[in-house]
Amino acid sequence: MTGPVTNAIGEVLIDETTISRRVAELGAQITAEYHGEPLVALAVLKGSFVFAADLLRVIDTPLAVEFIGLRSYIGGRTSTSGVVEITNDVKYPLGGHHVLVVEDIVDTGLTLDYLVKNLATRNPLSIKIAALLHKPSRTIKPIQIDYLGFEIPDEFVIGYGLDYDGRYRNLPHIAVLKPNDAQLGLFPSR
Ligand code: IMP
Repeated sequence: MTGPVTNAIGEVLIDETTISRRVAELGAQITAEYHGEPLVALAVLKGSFVFAADLLRVIDTPLAVEFIGLRSYIGGRTSTSGVVEITNDVKYPLGGHHVLVVEDIVDTGLTLDYLVKNLATRNPLSIKIAALLHKPSRTIKPIQIDYLGFEIPDEFVIGYGLDYDGRYRNLPHIAVLKPNDAQLGLFPSR
């Protein structure tokens, strides 16, 4: 974490009630799809930890939970370069299991493009993606998001697990980063 602690929280984009209703809908869809199948939910650290905690508790079928740490290298002021490093790998063999990747936000799609290709080499039965947020206008690599919470405009957002410069993950809602802070162009840590 760097820089002075200033209040960078802008307008609320998605409030707690709206998030929780949508997460419940996604949970019901996922339950119906995987019922009784061998399932591993793979949460991408750090940003998805809040979404994953809420989503997994409304999925009503036995599953294993794994975590993967990824670091995306900065390519421009606020975008990833597509060069991704696995900082903390899955300890569980994925062969013979369906994998549900749980991600906070799909921005350019470069990170998930890398991850899905990497996971495919481990021979899972299937790979699907649950993402809370998607910024379609920023797409570089189109990603098929099987369970999507919300499409959002091209704004830098914080809260509900998402950070700016390591902070604001603990906000209960999704807020827009104040324009002054967004202009600093610092890409968040994972
Ligand atoms: P992508 O590779 O460009 O799709 O970026 C994926 C990662 O960038 C996400 O998992 C987030 O960690 C981060 N990210 C992208 N947009 C935002 C945002 O608006 N707020 C916080 N993090 C973001």
